[in-house]
Amino acid sequence: MKTVLITGANSGIGKALVIKYVQEGYQVILACRDDDKARDVIHEVREIHSGARVVSVCLDLSSFESVSNCIMQLEKIGIKPQVLILNAGIHMPYRVILTKDKQELQYQTNFLSALLVTLRMLTQPCGQNIEQIVYVSSQAHHVARFPIPTLVGFWYRYALSKFDATAAFLMLAKRYPRLDVRILSPGGVLSNVHRNKPWILQLMNRYIGKKKSAPRIRQSLSLLSATVRKIVRSIGI
Ligand SMILES: NC(=O)c1ccc[n+]([C@@H]2O[C@H](COP(=O)([O-])OP(=O)(O)OC[C@H]3O[C@@H](n4cnc5c(N)ncnc54)[C@H](OP(=O)(O)O)[C@@H]3O)[C@@H](O)[C@H]2O)c1
Repeated sequence: MKTVLITGANSGIGKALVIKYVQEGYQVILACRDDDKARDVIHEVREIHSGARVVSVCLDLSSFESVSNCIMQLEKIGIKPQVLILNAGIHMPYRVILTKDKQELQYQTNFLSALLVTLRMLTQPCGQNIEQIVYVSSQAHHVARFPIPTLVGFWYRYALSKFDATAAFLMLAKRYPRLDVRILSPGGVLSNVHRNKPWILQLMNRYIGKKKSAPRIRQSLSLLSATVRKIVRSIGI
């Protein structure tokens, strides 16, 4: 049985992917910062698929210490995933928040820690079976090229985190040619990632995101085929 580890698996795209992989017969590791939320998803999944093999590990990407603890936890439980999906992300417009590691919150969550998890796993026994790595980026990474003052507050820091992550995962693909490294842009999806935006934009997102709501993603998002078309179309770096 193959195993997939999904970060940010308790909500939105990550949760939809959990269900998709369970349906395909994978064992799924949910890497989430909130144990209760992870447990709720596991409970929900088991209600639909009684035989589902789903476990959770604690991972708060805004803390390097938590990344280290998560790797230790993976080593301890001894499950070695074949697929690693770096999906967790946050968009925090306007406010500049520093983590306890003195990094900008989005930059650490969306980029630094996602890369750190990947590199730590690739150099530890828990990552020795990894065949495929998927980084969930965003079309917004284009905005990082244009540090126009009006964009700075709303998009720029989020965009920069996705831009640098995209560049880093492209480099990773070159560094590890044996790995199938994919970077995808999901497009507009109705999910909690919009919750920190002003209410008027949340309303717009509700309208724009309707056609691609997270539950539908699990039907339309086939990581083994369709996403390839979405990948690097958005990259252009
Ligand atoms: N939705 C869109 O329109 C859209 C468009 C382009 C790209 N994306 C990208 O798609 C990915 C998934 O987002 P989504 O739309 O599914 O949003 P979502 O429902 O908000 O899911 C984001 C997930 O990331 C987790 N997360 C946030 N901060 C974290 C941290 N410090 N440590 C660990 N996990 C953390 C969240 O956990 P909590 O529930 O605990 O907060 C949640 O599980 C993100 O990388 C996002 O940037 C989304």
